[in-house]
Amino acid sequence: MNRKKKSKIKKIAVMTSGGDVPGLNACIRSVVRTAIFNQLEIVGIQHGFEGLISGDFIPMNAGTVSNIIQLGGTILKSSRSARFKTREGRLAAYKQIKKENIEAIVLIGGDGSFEGANAFTREHDIPFIGIPKTIDNDISGTEICIGYDTALNTATQALDKIRDTAQSHERIFVVEVMGRDSGYIAYGAGLAGGAEAIMVPETRADEKNLQQVLKQGWNRSKSSLIIVVAEGNESGGALKIAERVKKYMPSNYVGVCILGHIQRGGSPSAADRILASKFGFHAIEGLLMGRRNVMVGFKKNEICFTSLHRIKRHHLDINKHLLKMITTLTS
Ligand code: F6P
Repeated sequence: MNRKKKSKIKKIAVMTSGGDVPGLNACIRSVVRTAIFNQLEIVGIQHGFEGLISGDFIPMNAGTVSNIIQLGGTILKSSRSARFKTREGRLAAYKQIKKENIEAIVLIGGDGSFEGANAFTREHDIPFIGIPKTIDNDISGTEICIGYDTALNTATQALDKIRDTAQSHERIFVVEVMGRDSGYIAYGAGLAGGAEAIMVPETRADEKNLQQVLKQGWNRSKSSLIIVVAEGNESGGALKIAERVKKYMPSNYVGVCILGHIQRGGSPSAADRILASKFGFHAIEGLLMGRRNVMVGFKKNEICFTSLHRIKRHHLDINKHLLKMITTLTS
C-alpha cells in the first residue's frame, strides 16, 4: 500500500446504508474495534443517511459490538434515503456532522450510497471511506462484496432442497433468485446447484434454446429439471417462464419458487465474516494513513482502494469461455 501522511482525525462515525446483507455486523465490529485500538472516538449513525440527516447518533465502544459477528442484519439499521439525494438533505446531514464533531465517516454501502457520498464530498469538507456490500456483488473496484458469499450459499442450499422434491416427483422447477441487474447469484447458485438452465440479466434469454435444452434433458431420461433465473432477467421472472415452459412441456409439473429476501438474511458465512473484518480493518488503516473519499476493495488477492467518484455498478462478464462452461455443465 502506498503509505500517505498520517492523519490527525480524532472522531469518526460508521453507518450502514441501502439493503442489508449478512456480514454488516461483522464489518461494524471490525471498524469499531480498529478505531478504538487506534484511539479514535467512534459513533454509530443509525438508519443510514436518514439517520445522518436527523442526527441519529449512538456512541460505540468495544461492548456495543461484542457478540455480533455472527448476526445477520445490521445493529445500526439501514435505509434507502431519497432525501440524501437532494442538496438540502445533504446540507442538513452536514450540519448534524459538524454539531457532533465527526471528522470522517465509514460508509458500508452499495453503489447508490457511494454516489450519494460522492455528491456530498463535492459540497462539504467531511471525507468518506466506503466499504462495499451487496448480495448482488455488482460494485466496481472490488471482485467481491460483503454478503454475496452467504446469499450464494443460501440460494445453493435452496436449490439442493428443491432438487429433492423435483427428483422424487420428476418435476420441473423455475427458481428465481435476487439480482436486480446482476447475474452473480443466479450464475453461482446455478453452477453450484447443478441447474439445467441459468438465466441472467447480462444476456438475453433464447427461448428456443431453453426449450431445446429442457426437452433434450428430459428425453435423455433426466428425472428433474431446474431453471435458475435472476429477478432482473428480461424474460419476465419465474412465473412467466413457468407459464411458457408449461406450454411446450404440457405433461410435466412445472413449479415456481421465488427465494426473495431469505437470501439477504441469516448468519454470515465464515468467508463473509472474514471479508467484512478485513474491509473494516483496512478502511480505518487507510483513513489513518491519509486516504480520503475512497472505497476499500479486494482484487487479485489484495486489498485496494478506488476513488469513490469512480465507483459504479458492474456486471458479470459473460465471455465466451464462461458461456462455454455454463453450456457444457448445464447440458
Ligand atoms: O441490491 C440488493 C437487492 O437485494 C437486489 O437483489 C434486490 O432487487 C433489491 O435489493 C431489493 O431491495 P428491497 O429490499 O429494498 O426491496
